[in-house]
Amino acid sequence: MKIGIIGLGVVGLSFASVLSSKGFPVIGMDSDGKKIEQINSKKLPFFEPKLKLFLKNALSKSLEISSDIDKVVRNCDFIFLTVGTPKSKSGYIDLSMLKKASKNIGISLRHTTKKPIIVIKSTVVPNTTTKVIKPLIEKASGKKTGKGFDILTNPEFLRESNVIDDTLKPHLVVIGGIEKNSVNKLKKLYRKLYGPRIKLMTTNTQTAEMIKYANNSFLATKISFINQISLLCQSIPGINIDDIAEGIGVDPRIGRSFLNAGPGYGGSCLPKDLETIIQFSSKFGSNPLLLRAVQQTNDLQIKYIIHLLEKNLGNITNKHITVLGLSFKENSGDIRESRSIELIKILLKKKAKITVHDPKAMKNTEPIFKNQIVYANTLLQSLDNCQCVIIMTPWKIYTKLKNSDFKNMKRKLVIDTRRILSRKNLNVEYFALGLGTN
Ligand code: UDX
Repeated sequence: MKIGIIGLGVVGLSFASVLSSKGFPVIGMDSDGKKIEQINSKKLPFFEPKLKLFLKNALSKSLEISSDIDKVVRNCDFIFLTVGTPKSKSGYIDLSMLKKASKNIGISLRHTTKKPIIVIKSTVVPNTTTKVIKPLIEKASGKKTGKGFDILTNPEFLRESNVIDDTLKPHLVVIGGIEKNSVNKLKKLYRKLYGPRIKLMTTNTQTAEMIKYANNSFLATKISFINQISLLCQSIPGINIDDIAEGIGVDPRIGRSFLNAGPGYGGSCLPKDLETIIQFSSKFGSNPLLLRAVQQTNDLQIKYIIHLLEKNLGNITNKHITVLGLSFKENSGDIRESRSIELIKILLKKKAKITVHDPKAMKNTEPIFKNQIVYANTLLQSLDNCQCVIIMTPWKIYTKLKNSDFKNMKRKLVIDTRRILSRKNLNVEYFALGLGTN
C-alpha cells in the first residue's frame, strides 16, 4: 500500500513525515520546485518545532518527494489532498489550488487502472467535496466515483507549532463519506497508524466538512468570550482574568483551554474560517449574529491596546514604541493575520516610530513594512530608548524579562497583552490586558 500526499505545507509535510517515519511508504508531492528542492535537502520551508527531525527520519526511510502528480496517481492507493485553501480578497476561502490539484488528479487518472481513494484534508465548506471536487475529477478523468476512484473527507485539527504532537496523537479522526468500502479502508489505515485508542468518527462528507468550521468557530468564540470578560476586568481593581479562567475552566462543561485572554486570535485558520462560515451562512439566509460578534470582539482588542497606549503616552506621533512578538503565536514564524502586524499598521498610521523583535518571524515581516520600521538584532537592543514596549506574542524569552533589561528605556512603560510578566516584581509602569488596575 502506498500513500500520496499532495500539497506539502504544514499539514501535508507533517502528515507525510509522520506516516513515513512510522514505516508507511509515502510520496509527498508539491508543484513548487523550490520547495521540493528544500525538502529533499532536509530543510524546512517554514519553522515548525520537531518537524525537521521527523522529516530527516522519514527521508531516510520511506518518504519520496516529487513534483510529478502522475507518479502519485499511478502508484498510490490513498491520495490525501492537503493543498491550501487560503483567504481570498473577499475573505472567503479560495479553492483555486484545490480545484487545480483535483483537475490534475483527474487527468492522471485517465491513464491508469489504479482506483485510488482520494481524501480531502484541506479545509472546505460543506458540500465542496461532492459538489465541486468530485465533478471536477469525474470530468477530467472520464471516470465515475465508485468505479474509477473514491472520494472521502477527512478534516484535520492541527495547531501550528504543535503539528507533530497533534499528528501523532489527534484528539479525533473524522472520516466523511458514504461509500462503506473506502471508509473502512481509511479507518483501517488510521487504526494501523494510531492503534485502538484514537477516537474515529464516521459521517457523511458535508457533516465532516462542517465539523471543522464549527470547531474553529467555537475556539474563536471561546477566545472572544474571555477577551470580552477581560476588558470588563480591566476596570475592576484587583481582578486577574487568569484566575477567572481558572475558576470557570474547572467546570467540565466549560474547560480551561482557549480561555487565555490576549490581543485577539490570529493565524491562517481561525480568522479565515470564521469569515468563511459567516459568508457561507449568509448564502443560506441564516444570520450569523454570534459569529459576527466574535469577530468584532476580536478587533476590539487591538483598539483597546491603542487606547491604553494613548492614555499613557498622549499623542503617539514620533514616540518610540517597541513591539515584542510578530508571529501570531509563540514557537511559530507565521505572521498571517497576526495581531502584531495589525497593531503596527495602526501605529504607523499614527506616525509612531516602531522597533520590532521576534525570535522567528522577522524575515516574514520585512517584506510588509520594509524600512518603515526598525528590526532589532537582539531583545535588549529593541528596548533601547523606547518610550513603551508592547508584548504581543508570549515567546519564552519575553517571560524572562527583568528590571535591569528595561534600564535603557526612555520611559519604562510596559503593556503586556499576554500577562507573561504579571507575577514579577517590576519597577516599571506596568499595564496588562485583563488585570484590573488601581
Ligand atoms: C487553529 C486550531 O486550533 C486548529 O485546530 C486548526 O486545525 C487550525 O487553527 P492555529 O491557527 O495553529 O490552530 O493556532 P491556535 O493555537 O488555535 O491559536 C490561534 C490564535 O488564538 C493565536 O493567535 C493564539 O495566540 C490565540 N489564542 C489561542 C488566544 O488568544 N487565547 C487562547 O486561549 C488560545
